[in-house]
Amino acid sequence: MESGSWLHRPRQGQGLGREMRAAMLQLAFEGLGAERAESGAYEGNAASLAVTRSLGYRANGDAVRDDGGRGWRRELRFVLDRATWEQRRRDDIELVGVEPCLELLGAEPPA
Ligand SMILES: CC(C)(COP(=O)(O)OP(=O)(O)OC[C@H]1O[C@@H](n2cnc3c(N)ncnc32)[C@H](O)[C@@H]1OP(=O)(O)O)[C@@H](O)C(=O)NCCC(=O)NCCS
Repeated sequence: MESGSWLHRPRQGQGLGREMRAAMLQLAFEGLGAERAESGAYEGNAASLAVTRSLGYRANGDAVRDDGGRGWRRELRFVLDRATWEQRRRDDIELVGVEPCLELLGAEPPA
């Protein structure tokens, strides 16, 4: 699965982005049985890159993308595999109400 995140500017830089991504990874791996998570950030996006690196993703190449009005920019790509996430998984994040949504999301209950 692939994720992107965006916080309202006044809420940036307060630790919410990291918590939000950690929660999303818990949902993906524990709740939906994902095998890998991918992310990307434009070069120079220090906050996004710091969140990604702090959660154990490894570099997975780059791409050049058209960033709308800002033109062509280099995007750094990252991947986090299930085994790496398992080693760092948090025990203070609780998933609630996921199971009834699995069919709707086309996911199997994780083994
Ligand atoms: C990217 C984003 C979700 C990160 O969330 P955040 O709440 O601002 O980040 P956090 O406060 O959780 O900080 C996470 C890390 O980034 C670092 N950081 C935060 N803002 C930073 C900045 N402006 N410059 C450098 N480092 C920064 C923090 O020190 C922290 O590092 P640490 O884990 O080593 O302590 C948020 O900034 C955002 O929505 N930005 C605009 C949209 C965007 O660029 N989305 C990503 C598209 S790929």
